[in-house]
Amino acid sequence: MPEKRLRVGVLFGGRSAEHEVSLRSALSIMEAMDRDKYELVPIGVSKAGEWLRLDSRALEGPANTLALQGERVALLPHPEDQSLVPLDNGAGGVQDAQKPLDVVFPVLHGPLGEDGTVQGLFELADIPYVGSGVLGSAVGMDKATMKALFLQRQLNIPAHRVFLRKHWRDDPHGVRSECEATFAYPWFVKPANLGSSVGISKVHNQGEFGPAMDEAAQYDRKLVVESAVEHAREVEVSVMGNDEPVASVVGEILPSHEFYDYESKYLDEATRLIIPADLPETVTSRIQKMAVEAFLALDCAGLARVDFLVAGKTLEVYLSEVNTMPGFTSVSMYPKLWEASGIPYAELIDKLIQLALERHAEVHSNRRSFGE
Ligand SMILES: Nc1ncnc2c1ncn2[C@@H]1O[C@H](COP(=O)(O)OP(=O)(O)O)[C@@H](O)[C@H]1O
Ligand SMILES: [Mg+2]
Repeated sequence: MPEKRLRVGVLFGGRSAEHEVSLRSALSIMEAMDRDKYELVPIGVSKAGEWLRLDSRALEGPANTLALQGERVALLPHPEDQSLVPLDNGAGGVQDAQKPLDVVFPVLHGPLGEDGTVQGLFELADIPYVGSGVLGSAVGMDKATMKALFLQRQLNIPAHRVFLRKHWRDDPHGVRSECEATFAYPWFVKPANLGSSVGISKVHNQGEFGPAMDEAAQYDRKLVVESAVEHAREVEVSVMGNDEPVASVVGEILPSHEFYDYESKYLDEATRLIIPADLPETVTSRIQKMAVEAFLALDCAGLARVDFLVAGKTLEVYLSEVNTMPGFTSVSMYPKLWEASGIPYAELIDKLIQLALERHAEVHSNRRSFGE
């Protein structure tokens, strides 16, 4: 008798600027999932935030496209039944929508997907899910809080300051002076909560600071100003596990632009991945160790890609950020690094689902009531 297939809800799309990237990641994942082990339940989240239960025909379109059409569904925030609830009475005809899901793989990038919000819903519904919990996801999305946790572990990061948008608007001169007193130009200015380099600028001199802050302030109420790492090399490591995470080989990105901006991330074919990165063994092992520490510092689970900036001349290693739901197409850095470390794409998905089930079981072993 074959084992019962796991019913896996794959959630993708979403309300963030990374909607399209998410579709591409999810397509790769669903194509690779072994149908003998998994019963796929594709759930597309529209840009407006509706959850749509796609039927299998949605996956049969031309390569790299996914039509977000299907019956509107919801997941209820109570632990009685882990099934999707159809919202349109009598519509659609997706007969199996109401069978409970065994696990969810939220392939959502950015705010309202990678930031703990949707993870909170899975907790309420008591469904195992791939990736970090509410806390790890939330701090992984907030560069200001993330840096505070890195510093607490004495992990090396670029000098930085955090400001509220209100402080910037009320006292721009004071904000600039505080940064100038702390580190020399050039700087990077970023909204604390976002990704894909959106709203980020490099500031070479005083004159560029105001426009850069105004730009970042459009996206978030919290802004980070940090010292630029000189001739920075972009180095990334994949981490996997729960309480005892492990690091992959180290990879490097050669962006075609001055920094790894939105265009070089998603639009530019000239960006190249070098796996493994050409770095001395001592530097590589330091980076892997720091990657695991960063994962633990943020209380991540399942997976994370940990990004570093390595100074071009001195090879000093700076921890940059943790991405709790990194790009996951078959050519993305996260799976590529595991492939180079001996774990092929489909097996990686198996392991992540297994880790989701293990973490759920571990959390369930908590005593939930007191004094009975
Ligand atoms: N302190 C820094 N020094 C040098 N380059 C930086 C620095 N901060 C950011 N960058 C450049 O900007 C890119 C995007 O910044 P990052 O903090 O990774 O934001 P995102 O979450 O949008 O990826 C980095 O990949 C790097 O190219
Ligand atoms: Mg980044």
